[in-house]
Formats: sequence, structure tokens, C-alpha cells
Amino acid sequence: MANLKVQFGSITMKNPLVMASGTFGFGKEYGQLYDIERLGGIATKGLTLEKRSGNTGMRIWETPSGILNSVGLENPGVEAFIKEELPYLNNLNVVKLVNIGGKTLQDYVDAIAMVSKEKADMIELNISCPNVKEGGMAFGITADSTRRIVRAARNATQLPLVVKLSPNAEDIVKAAVVCQEEGADGITLINTVKAMAIDIDKRKSIFDNMYAGLSGPAIKPIALRMVHEVCKNVSIPVMGVGGITTWKDVVEFIMVGATCVQIGTANFIKSTIPLDILEGLEAYMVQEGINSLEEIRGII
Ligand SMILES: Cc1cc2nc3c(=O)[nH]c(=O)nc-3n(C[C@H](O)[C@H](O)[C@H](O)COP(=O)(O)O)c2cc1C
Repeated sequence: MANLKVQFGSITMKNPLVMASGTFGFGKEYGQLYDIERLGGIATKGLTLEKRSGNTGMRIWETPSGILNSVGLENPGVEAFIKEELPYLNNLNVVKLVNIGGKTLQDYVDAIAMVSKEKADMIELNISCPNVKEGGMAFGITADSTRRIVRAARNATQLPLVVKLSPNAEDIVKAAVVCQEEGADGITLINTVKAMAIDIDKRKSIFDNMYAGLSGPAIKPIALRMVHEVCKNVSIPVMGVGGITTWKDVVEFIMVGATCVQIGTANFIKSTIPLDILEGLEAYMVQEGINSLEEIRGII
């Protein structure tokens, strides 16, 4: 049996597979389908201080090799999450990443402070959501705004802090370096790529919010390139995400430097896909005589 264990900063994970925010809810539904304790970690749906009902109109639109989503951070709010969802997650032997979004810097700080009083393993600071009108991705575009929000988040929590960066950032390497300088413990990248689709009969965008976020295999080459660039320029660990559907994709992300990976859209294709990926990854390691993923990390 291969050893799939990975060390992400101070956090040990039994394997490198983390379920990506917004594609796994708070775990309960998938927990009825398979043993989700086999996963390395779960990132919660993005939470905001107050409950949000999300965007109107079309929310998911299939494209060649991907989907566009315009969910708009629908979530129950941090307080309801702590009362109704966190106890279930805390009974699971998986690493819990609480994903936090917000409209204003103060919203982020308050939400992070509330979560930090509870039992959670990491805060995943989402400054990369393209589907909200205020806040969200706006914080992750420039190095200056990234610095401001990471500094505030760092001061608001003792928990390990992972910053989820946007592929739409002006300069992804600069943004990652700023996160490291401001004391982040790790980086997740990438979030969805800002994109759009057109209804030619109605002569307008498919989405009420005009633009949406592209995910799935279509974005994998972009994600790989960004993870590679960032890993060459920071020493904090990186979670690679974007278009992973097979164990081979995971190996690619690890070879470009990721410490662990996140599975997003693939969960919608086949709910038990993480188990197939784990099985494939283990067989690959045995076949190649690899004892630890450390042996192939960042070799490119
Ligand atoms: C329907 C949907 C909802 C998402 N919601 C969030 C979210 O709330 N917070 C966040 O940080 N990322 C969110 N994401 C982005 C994913 O976590 C992930 O970064 C992105 O989809 C790329 O990975 P993938 O190609 O494997 O899906 C969402 C993605 C999808 C498809």
C-alpha cells in the first residue's frame, strides 16, 4: 500500500484530496453516498457574515469541457453554519477548511473571528469569487488590496490561513508573494475564470449577472501554469485546483509543485469520483515505486 499522507504546513492530511468549496456543500449529502472520511479534506461552501440568497436567473450552464456558474455565494451565513452544519463536519475525521467570503473588509474580519472561536482546521479566505457584485474577487485583483485583506484576516485568526487566489488577478505571482509576506500559511489556486455565455434568441447574456465563473477540465491548463509559477516563487504550500477529474491530473498538479489538490466540478460528474482518483493514485505510486508524493512534488 502506498502512503498518500501529505503535510500542508502544520496540518497533516491522510491523502491530498480536498473537496473544493461550493461543490460539496457542507458534506452531508455526499456523506449519504459514500464514506467521506476517506477524503483528505473538505472546504465548505463559501460563507458570509449574513445569509445570502445568491443570484437570480440561470446558475449553471454547461460549456465544452466545463461549466459556467453564477451561484453568487448563496449560503446560510456564519451563525447558522456554526449551529447547523459545523457539528456534522466536526464529527468527521477529515481536515475542515471553512471558506469565507464577504462584501467588505469588516465583514470578512467578523466572519473569520466568529469561526475562529469554533473547532475548525483552517480558514480558506476567498478573495476570488467572480459571481458577486460587491467584494469577492475585487479584493483579489491587485496586490495592494490582496495585502490589505490578508493582513486583516491574519490579525483576526490564530487558525491556519489559506488564501484562495483568483486567476483574474493582475499578477498571480505577486499576489501569492504578498500572501506569504502577510503571514498566510498556504495558497489555494485557482478559483473560476471570469467568462460568459450568450442566448442569441434573447440577444443577451445567459446570466442575470452578465458574467459567470468557468470551471472544469477547460481551465486545467491555466490552473497548472499558475500553480507552477506560484510554487516557483513562494515557500508556503499550495493547493492546486482547476479541472481535476482523474488521478493523472492530480499527479500533474503535484509535479508542478502543489502539496495537495482540490476536486470541484468533477463531483457533479460522478459523486464518488474522489474514490476512483484515490484508487488510481495509489496504484500509480505502487507501480512507480513511489513511497511518498514528496518524491515527485515540484519536479518540473
Ligand atoms: C457551483 C460552484 C460553486 C462554487 N462556489 C465557490 C465558493 O463558494 N467559494 C470558493 O472559494 N470557490 C467556489 N467555487 C470554485 C471552486 O471551489 C473551484 O475553485 C473551481 O471550480 C475550479 O475547480 P474545478 O475546475 O475542479 O471545479 C465554486 C465552483 C462551482 C462550480
